[in-house]
Amino acid sequence: MLLIGVMSLTQAMAATTPAERVMEKDRPLVIAHRGYPAIAPENTLPAFALGKLMGADMVELDYHVTRDGVAVVIHDATLDRTTDSVAQWGQEEVRLEDKSALEVSHLDAGSWYDPRYAGTKLPTLEEALNLIQADGGMCLIERKGGAPAHIVEFLKDRKLINQVVLQSFDWDYLKEVHALQPDQVLWALGPQKYWEGEKLEKEDRELSPEWIDRALETGARLVVWNQQVNEEALEYAHGKGIKIVVYTVNELEPAQQFLEAGVDGLITNNAGLIWKAMATLKE
Ligand code: G3P
Ligand code: CA
Repeated sequence: MLLIGVMSLTQAMAATTPAERVMEKDRPLVIAHRGYPAIAPENTLPAFALGKLMGADMVELDYHVTRDGVAVVIHDATLDRTTDSVAQWGQEEVRLEDKSALEVSHLDAGSWYDPRYAGTKLPTLEEALNLIQADGGMCLIERKGGAPAHIVEFLKDRKLINQVVLQSFDWDYLKEVHALQPDQVLWALGPQKYWEGEKLEKEDRELSPEWIDRALETGARLVVWNQQVNEEALEYAHGKGIKIVVYTVNELEPAQQFLEAGVDGLITNNAGLIWKAMATLKE
């Protein structure tokens, strides 16, 4: 009886929240990028449902915030690429942040991808999380627009602190979120200079011990990088007990190369293929 009590306490102390537990898996994470854009329109409820169906450990999405303060799931700052905004409003490059939640709720976010998805809406972050978080699911929220205080209040109001993971290319945003809510698990996305719109030199594109240290200074607990991750960086990170996740890997062979190299997770448009990559990896 006493032994069981001690074991439970140890387990509870090791990883206390879902966001912490997901980082403790003893195999690489499979993360469904924008849901499942290989077969459904990115960042929509059907795409998220498919990501979950494929057993992804996490479903990734991007959000911006409307003029009236509603977090809406979309990758781009403008509505042109993934909605029918131009056809509806006759205007190009309309930004989501300049529209109200009601206005963008009338947009079609599925037809551009396939007529079968006509009528699919841009989900609010709330709608997306209701689907993704159900039955033990886990969302990896990427902030593309919106203030640090906005997301902290959003997560606190819904009791979602550390039920989700939050990531961003904007490391000042991460620092501010960390200052407001130090408990929340944050992941730092890089290359960081991509966010600042700078021309990327080789040393900015490639993950290095220096970039890992700078990422950790934000309060982030894991680093997510493009595919320019070398052995030295992985060794350095693992030596510090830090995991590295790579995006966006959609083909079998590169997926297996990253898995063999020891990366701790893959963000992918095709979660099913990553399971296959793991299952067919040669010893
Ligand atoms: O999660 C990593 C990846 O989503 C970052 O790039 O442009 O697809 O948001 P992007
Ligand atoms: Ca993203």
